[in-house]
Parts: sequence; C-alpha cells; structure tokens
Amino acid sequence: MDSILVKGNGPLNGQIPIAGAKNACLTLMPATLLTDAPLTLTNAPRLSDIKTMNTLLSSLGSEVAMLQDGQVLVLGTKTISNHVADYDIVRKMRASILVLGPMLAREGQAVVSLPGGCAIGARPVDLHLHGLEALGAKLDLRDGYVHATASGGLKGATFEFPFVSVGATENLLMAATLAKGTTVLKNAAREPEIVDLAQCLRAMGAQIEGEGTPTITIQGVDSLHGATHSIVPDRIELGTYMLAPAIAGGDVELLGGRISLLEAFCEKLHEAGIDVTETKNGLRVCRKNGRVNAVNVRTEPYPGFPTDLQAQMMALLCTANGTSVLEETIFENRFMHAPELIRMGADIDVHGGHATVKGVAKLKGAPVMATDLRASVSLILAGLAAEGETIVSRVYHLDRGYERVEEKLSACGAMIERIATV
Ligand code: UD1
Repeated sequence: MDSILVKGNGPLNGQIPIAGAKNACLTLMPATLLTDAPLTLTNAPRLSDIKTMNTLLSSLGSEVAMLQDGQVLVLGTKTISNHVADYDIVRKMRASILVLGPMLAREGQAVVSLPGGCAIGARPVDLHLHGLEALGAKLDLRDGYVHATASGGLKGATFEFPFVSVGATENLLMAATLAKGTTVLKNAAREPEIVDLAQCLRAMGAQIEGEGTPTITIQGVDSLHGATHSIVPDRIELGTYMLAPAIAGGDVELLGGRISLLEAFCEKLHEAGIDVTETKNGLRVCRKNGRVNAVNVRTEPYPGFPTDLQAQMMALLCTANGTSVLEETIFENRFMHAPELIRMGADIDVHGGHATVKGVAKLKGAPVMATDLRASVSLILAGLAAEGETIVSRVYHLDRGYERVEEKLSACGAMIERIATV
C-alpha cells in the first residue's frame, strides 16, 4: 500500500486545475442504463471510483470507452445482458446502488447487492427503496440483495423524502424519467451534482423541472436518446485545494472553480480571514501572515456547509487563533481524522456529533493513517502546515477521489511525494 510523504515547506504559489466532479460522474455513468444510444461524458475525473463504476456497468452489459486519458467516457448499453449487480463490486463503492433505479426503469427488473456499512457510518439505502416502491416497484430483500421488479413498468407518483438524500434523489430522478406519468419528488436534494444529472437527462430527452429546488417534477417519456454532457467541476476537490494556501499560506488560483458552487464554505473561509476572489479562469485564494480566526461550522445538505469538507476544514482550524466547534449532522461517525490530527499536535475533543478544536500555534509532522477519502486529504493538508515530516498511510482512500494530488500540490511548491510499496 502506497503512502504519501509531506513536509511543511512554507507558502504555496501557483495554479491548480479542478477536475470534473467524482460524485456527479458516478451518477451520470449509470444513466447509460436508461437508453440504448451512446452517452458521452466529458471533463471526467481520473479516479479509481470511476474505474469501479466502469467495472460494474460492464458487468451489466454496458460498453465503456475511456478516451483522452480517461477524461472522456463513451458509454453504450445496447442491451442489459445481466441484471445482477454483484456484491463483490457493490461492497467496494456505495454509489453502485445508483444502477438500481435506471435498470429497473428500463427493464422492469434488477437485482442489486445491498452496499453494507462504511467507515463513516451505517448509511442505509432505505430511502432509495421506499422511493422506488412509491413508483410501483415490488422489492424483495434476500441473501443480501434487493430483488426489484416492476412488471408493466414504473408509474409516476409523488414521493416526499423524510430527510434529504443525495443518492436517493439521484436514483429516483433517473427512474422517473421512464416511468408512466408524472413524478413529483419533494424535499429533494439540491446539490450541484443533482442539477448536473438533471441537465444531462434533459439532453437525453427527459422532461424535468425544478432541479436545484426542493421539488423536482418529472414527466415520464417512452424512451431516452444519446447525448454529450460536460461534467460540473468538483466542488469538493475545489474546496480541498482552496484550503491548501489557507493552511500553508500563499496565493493559489483554482482553475475552473467558482464561488457559486461553495457559497457557505467560502463564507466560512472569509470569517476565518482568508481572501477568496473570482478571477477570469477560476478562484484565487490568499492567506496573509498571522493565524486564521476560529470559526464554528455545522455541516448541512446543500446549500449548507458540505460534510465532504468538514475534515479538511478541521485541519485548518487546528492552527486557528481560538476555539472552533464543528458539528457533523449528516454522518454519525465522521470524526475519525481527529485522533490522527491529535497525533500531529492538534487539541481536539470529540463529543457525539461535535468536535471542539482549540487552535495551537503549530502542528508537528507524524506518521498517520487515512481512514476514509476526505480524512486522508485532511491529513495531507495538515502536513503542509506542520513542522517536519508527515507520512500518510493507506492512501488508496485518496486515490478514490483525488487525481494526481502530489502533482497538483507540488506544482505550487509543496514538498509532497508518493512512496510506493513494492
Ligand atoms: C453522497 C455523496 C457523499 C456525500 C453525501 C452527503 C456520492 C457518490 N456521494 O452520498 O460524498 O458525503 O452525499 O452530501 O454522491 N441515508 C439513509 N437512508 C438512505 C440514504 C441515506 O438513512 O436511503 C442517510 C445517510 O446514512 C446519511 C444521510 O442520509 O446519514 C445523507 O446521505 P446521502 O445524501 O444519501 O449520501 P450519499 O448519497 O450516500
């Protein structure tokens, strides 16, 4: 297993290109199951999660060509030759559940392994299942699999989510495009990735209104056609790299970034004393001398502060002037980076869904272990500001969601390298 070595090396200066959004790509790829015509996705990120989705779709009968070094994906599903999404693939990546809605909508049948828990919490899929039942699906849970049927096809209905779920909104949105009649999704997720999916589905011939608001209305159509769609920039990668100069000091331009993707996060950076401005090509982040201000953060569904940036924000607040409280409301076990940051000299007290962070003047490098995707990058960010060497092990988590992280940061002057294990 590879590790990443980071040495705190002073301010960062330069430009970092932001890739297409992993989470958007992972929901756009299964949209191929809705049509027999080709779907072309441009601006795709080059990540191991995308390869896992490729393997899953290929196992169902899709053909996926990765062109231009993986930045263009051409997906075609003339026929769905296998209706079973196998446990061996699904257990690697929860987003695999996103094949359920489209496969059921097109074929009237689908068998998908239940994803099981993951490091950051139990993460059930009950909302996906209740929503599909509302559209007329018959579900049978046995042997760890959901066996879903909809003889005669899915039927439009009104479904109100009891709380906001990104994945369940995506699954139902895709399924409803081919359901008979009108579907109204209430209390739907509003994330930019949902808007991106709706735009792509519309380009494929779907009739959708209201994406980006809590109520999405879908008028089912008989069939969808092919389309070419450019994937929205990755707001989580953007926020992560915005934190690099915020933590290490310096002046970095994030190419392709825009404030509208991350307003709540940008407000918190502003409160912390970090300058964020829009440029012709993206966003510019500057940190002047002196410690950042402590700020309180509460994670919420979009447009609130994203849970996927909580670990990285905590890394920044470890060296703030004063005490910050971070509240995690989306996942129940998402402070596993805290004990690792404490190994680097941070003063953090986790109590239930809250973490109290008392800023220290300086972090110190240490060997630390990545526990999940966002936790792993928070340790790299902390390493950029620490005295001495930090070695982050288990970086396979990182490769699921960040492409060429060492290259992007070292281009701005960071001392960071991958240590390959033979
Ligand atoms: C997506 C993102 C993930 C992000 C999360 C929240 C992808 C591939 N992943 O995950 O990076 O952290 O949104 O912004 O896009 N829940 C249920 N039952 C369900 C579904 C969800 O109880 O059927 C719970 C979850 O356990 C969690 C909360 O609802 O506590 C929100 O989860 P959800 O928005 O569904 O997250 P994902 O779509 O899995």
